[in-house]
Amino acid sequence: MAKIALFGATGTIGSRILREALDRGHQVTAVVRDPAKLTEQHPALTVTTGDVLDPVSVAAAGRGKDVVVSAVGGGDGPGHIATIEPAAKSLVAGVRQLGADAPRLIAVGGAGSLRTPGGRLVWEQEGIPGFLLQIMHAHGDALAYYRSITDVRWTNISPAGTIEPGERTGTYRTALNDLVVDAEGNSRISAEDYAVALVDEIENPQHVGERFTVGY
Ligand SMILES: NC(=O)c1ccc[n+]([C@@H]2O[C@H](COP(=O)([O-])OP(=O)(O)OC[C@H]3O[C@@H](n4cnc5c(N)ncnc54)[C@H](OP(=O)(O)O)[C@@H]3O)[C@@H](O)[C@H]2O)c1
Repeated sequence: MAKIALFGATGTIGSRILREALDRGHQVTAVVRDPAKLTEQHPALTVTTGDVLDPVSVAAAGRGKDVVVSAVGGGDGPGHIATIEPAAKSLVAGVRQLGADAPRLIAVGGAGSLRTPGGRLVWEQEGIPGFLLQIMHAHGDALAYYRSITDVRWTNISPAGTIEPGERTGTYRTALNDLVVDAEGNSRISAEDYAVALVDEIENPQHVGERFTVGY
């Protein structure tokens, strides 16, 4: 059983991570800005308030935990872009404060910096709307920041090109820096199976200090 602090538990991806972790017997502290938004109840769930952009919140949430998970960002507004790289810096700063007992850090990333089968990066392809490009590059900046960090046990997990609520099949494929595509050339993962992969990584660490991606 792992002790997990989770930022973003009210979100599309974070709520699936929360459900998956609880279903697999882990103890979760959901760190939310507004507890009224979190309706989930479970004996192994504790809800606390905090802001991922505040390293003091991160350190408080991470104390005594095995892992801090972040699934923050989201929405159609500028707050989405503005949260991603600052959150990475705050998460690292907060976890770092915990010294030798610091938990691992696992963050939801973006697909933009992955290599497509054609050899270009996802964000180099034509026709991507400007707002989406900004989000992709914000995740790219966060990943570049994580890659500069050697004193915190971080992992960044890029979803496939498309991640949506769907079915939990329990199966997925991974790669390090190449977009995972299926036989039809589509890159997709359900938020439920993404959560399976993330909790698998908590239980069986395979990617400390690197990014990997999950798709079908
Ligand atoms: N294919 C891809 O690469 C891909 C696709 C989708 C998503 N993503 C990435 O995955 C992440 C999560 O996406 P999502 O769709 O699950 O987003 P979402 O449903 O909008 O959820 C975002 C979560 O972040 C939380 N949050 C935002 N700012 C926060 C802060 N300062 N402190 C604490 N919590 C904060 C929100 O909490 P509140 O309830 O308090 O607002 C919410 O729980 C984003 O970074 C997104 O860019 C990548």
